[in-house]
Amino acid sequence: MINLVLDLDTGIDDAIALSIAAKDERINLLGVTCTYGNVTVDESVYNTLALLSLLNRIDVPVYRGRDRALISTSTYVPHEAGRKIHGKKGSGDISLKESKRKAETTNAIDYLSSLMMKRDDFTIITTGPMTNLASILLSYPSLSTWKGKIIFMGGALTVRGNVNHFSEANIYKDPEAAKIVIESGLDITMIGLDVTERTRLYRKDAEKWKNRKSEIGRTLGSMLDYYLDNTLGLDETYVHDPSAVISSLHPEFFSFISLPLTVETESIDRGRVIVDEKRLMERDKMVKVALDVDRNKIETFLSHFDKYL
Ligand code: RIB
Ligand code: CA
Repeated sequence: MINLVLDLDTGIDDAIALSIAAKDERINLLGVTCTYGNVTVDESVYNTLALLSLLNRIDVPVYRGRDRALISTSTYVPHEAGRKIHGKKGSGDISLKESKRKAETTNAIDYLSSLMMKRDDFTIITTGPMTNLASILLSYPSLSTWKGKIIFMGGALTVRGNVNHFSEANIYKDPEAAKIVIESGLDITMIGLDVTERTRLYRKDAEKWKNRKSEIGRTLGSMLDYYLDNTLGLDETYVHDPSAVISSLHPEFFSFISLPLTVETESIDRGRVIVDEKRLMERDKMVKVALDVDRNKIETFLSHFDKYL
């Protein structure tokens, strides 16, 4: 059994990642912390609560996190590109019914930092900007020796970015936060575009999910249809956030190398994840970077996911 906390900017691929974590019996989902990115942090909370209700997982607590990047002075407002890919409120062109539940009164930083102080037998998976985690490391330096695992979906080391040639969206939205986490020396795995753009979800997956006739099946299937139409515009699309959750269950689907990574924060390539050449010969503070993936294994895993819907 794997204990997980998810940190989500709950748009469409985050919703699929959440559904896998909520339904796979090998995962014990301890809680979900929300962040901004594809949507505002409040929309992320709304979507997460609504989806957990459809998934019959109202036992999973949801926490509101930071509403903006570390150095930003105003609440993050998603830009048009993100709104186009994930829909106006992050759920494509359907409206998610409001959950009867509210977010916990404790905020994401207090919840997650105190959990990290109490135990290290869990993995934190981030699928949006890493502001919540960076805030924790800034506030509680003692947690830099935390022994649990972190998996982040983000970055593009050997391929081009998806915001510009250098940067991937999650890192680009808060490079300072990503740099703090990535250079922290914690046990960190990067699931970046290097692998997530090599695998596919298909229109036939959306059809299968809708055919389950459950509300969650119809909802996730319609959201995936919207995502297919608005990402590659084809009957197939990339597998970003679900890959991070799948990697926690099946690291053997991926090939990793350990590298001393950093994040550019200054120049034209702000938001770029890159090897820190100054630390190349040192063997500490390394990040496990997924550079290859068994495409068939990921796609087969996803093709069986309908059984949970
Ligand atoms: O670059 C892909 C990432 O950006 C995914 O996490 C997607 O949900 C968006 O946040
Ligand atoms: Ca995401």
